[in-house]
Amino acid sequence: MNQQDGFHVAVVGATGAVGQQMIQTLVNEKFPISKLTLLSSARSAGKRVEVNGQEITIEEAKPESFEGVDIALFSAGGGVSKELAPEAVKRGAIVVDNTSAFRMDADKPLVVPEVNELDLHQHNGIIANPNCSTIQMVVALEPIRQKYGLKKVIVSTYQAVSGAGASAVEELIEQTKSILNNETIEPQILPVKSDNNHYQIAFNAIPQIDKFQDNGYTFEEMKMINETKKIMHLPELQVSATCVRLPVAVGHSESVYFEIEAGDVSANDIKALLKDAPGVVLQDDPENQIYPMPANCVGKNDVFVGRIRKDIDEDRGFHMWVVSDNLLKGAAWNSVQIAERLVKLGLVK
Ligand SMILES: NC(=O)c1ccc[n+]([C@@H]2O[C@H](COP(=O)([O-])OP(=O)(O)OC[C@H]3O[C@@H](n4cnc5c(N)ncnc54)[C@H](OP(=O)(O)O)[C@@H]3O)[C@@H](O)[C@H]2O)c1
Repeated sequence: MNQQDGFHVAVVGATGAVGQQMIQTLVNEKFPISKLTLLSSARSAGKRVEVNGQEITIEEAKPESFEGVDIALFSAGGGVSKELAPEAVKRGAIVVDNTSAFRMDADKPLVVPEVNELDLHQHNGIIANPNCSTIQMVVALEPIRQKYGLKKVIVSTYQAVSGAGASAVEELIEQTKSILNNETIEPQILPVKSDNNHYQIAFNAIPQIDKFQDNGYTFEEMKMINETKKIMHLPELQVSATCVRLPVAVGHSESVYFEIEAGDVSANDIKALLKDAPGVVLQDDPENQIYPMPANCVGKNDVFVGRIRKDIDEDRGFHMWVVSDNLLKGAAWNSVQIAERLVKLGLVK
């Protein structure tokens, strides 16, 4: 391929849980690529990977790595983004960043294409990709907001271990084997690698994702609260979240309670709306036991919604169950989708 055939794309964190999915998604979506640069830390530099029949050597991410890069997809942790994303921008690249480094910066758009694609026009070189659990929720809520208005959201999550990286998936698998073999376990990664205590995830549920803040909420919960308001342009929206880690490898599930502004709306009205909503697949047929489950969403780009029902007491309140592949719509697919829209909107130089 030569330069005219597409863009020079860099993936930072190419060996990680998200980075690997990004590479696969770029290939699956036939993103126009003239050159693909794969970057990691010094630990993985020199490893070779095959992408679409071509062997590519992984390089250590450094400021100079971004010379000539048009689009850089970052998912190597917040520290790496803070250090290297401005270096990439300085060299003319547009950055789509998967970490929480820039999400709440007023001058950086936080984008879910189905919700606020037009915010891309305000970019100053860096576009933030929201938190995985936030993305799938706002894709399901946005059509409801547009038609009926939105007053309040209370979400409880049931999150997969891959949200904590490739090493957390390894920990779940090894721990499960050890427990089944009556061997002792030594949790080292979950709930948060850098926190003081580590707990068993196999056959368990851990009500902590990311570190606790002074207000008693975890950082993951505050991400859901603050990011939802920013993406939906609803600073007054009442949002609360409880985030829980489950022994599921891939696929986040969420129980979402929401209250709308409009009256006289039925559960069937909400179902009819979501049936045709962009990025949403409605799976809601209780009589036939049809509802979304993580095992069925792995490898798919969509957000699956079911169990839609009216609250027993609150006429404007509804409940729904929202499931998506956290590594795809929650990360890689949303990033590649942003890159596609940037190209379509003529925002890549
Ligand atoms: N997993 C999810 O569902 C999800 C969703 C949205 C956003 N994110 C965010 O995306 C980021 C990565 O997540 P992950 O789940 O893919 O983690 P991961 O599986 O642990 O992978 C981390 C990646 O970052 C690279 N890396 C680490 N330190 C580096 C450095 N100093 N310089 C360059 N590369 C470095 C690693 O390379 P080596 O192989 O060299 O170690 C690896 O490729 C995190 O900030 C996370 O919060 C994750």
